[in-house]
Amino acid sequence: MAIRTNKPGLRVTPKILILNGPNLNMLGTRQPEIYGSETLADVEASCRSHGETLEVAVDFRQSNHEGVLVDWIQEARLDQDGIIINAGAYTHTSVAILDALLASGLPAIEVHLSNIHQRDPFRHHSYISKAARGMICGFGSHGYILAMDALARLLRDQKRHNG
Ligand code: DQA
Repeated sequence: MAIRTNKPGLRVTPKILILNGPNLNMLGTRQPEIYGSETLADVEASCRSHGETLEVAVDFRQSNHEGVLVDWIQEARLDQDGIIINAGAYTHTSVAILDALLASGLPAIEVHLSNIHQRDPFRHHSYISKAARGMICGFGSHGYILAMDALARLLRDQKRHNG
């Protein structure tokens, strides 16, 4: 693991940032036929519990504001090891979030609850994908768990490679 901290060598547990974009705070009540009945707090609890199993520290956040998401991605460069992002509707519009992810240099995995390719044509294109190591969509909240497994493995492989 590349140690990105002011005190190199102190961190042994990888840190991952799980970012959620606009309207994901409405999960549970928002179009449950598409997004399911779990709330974002439920998704966060599952991710935290899975983080303990994987032995990774989970920082789970949501914002409706593009600039806040950009700020968090920029900050992550300094003290996180990887990013999982469901950018919500910004997926389909935000060059700023794409640029922030590219600038961070961190491995990123894109997640969507729904299968965006089965939905409106404007949802088929993702700006985020260009910066993502991979994308998981269509598995509901389980997609976050799959993304955590993938990211934890990437980070382990990276650590093995970098020594
Ligand atoms: C979403 C898909 C997006 O198209 C939509 O705008 C969302 C949620 C998903 O998780 O399926 O807000 O990212």
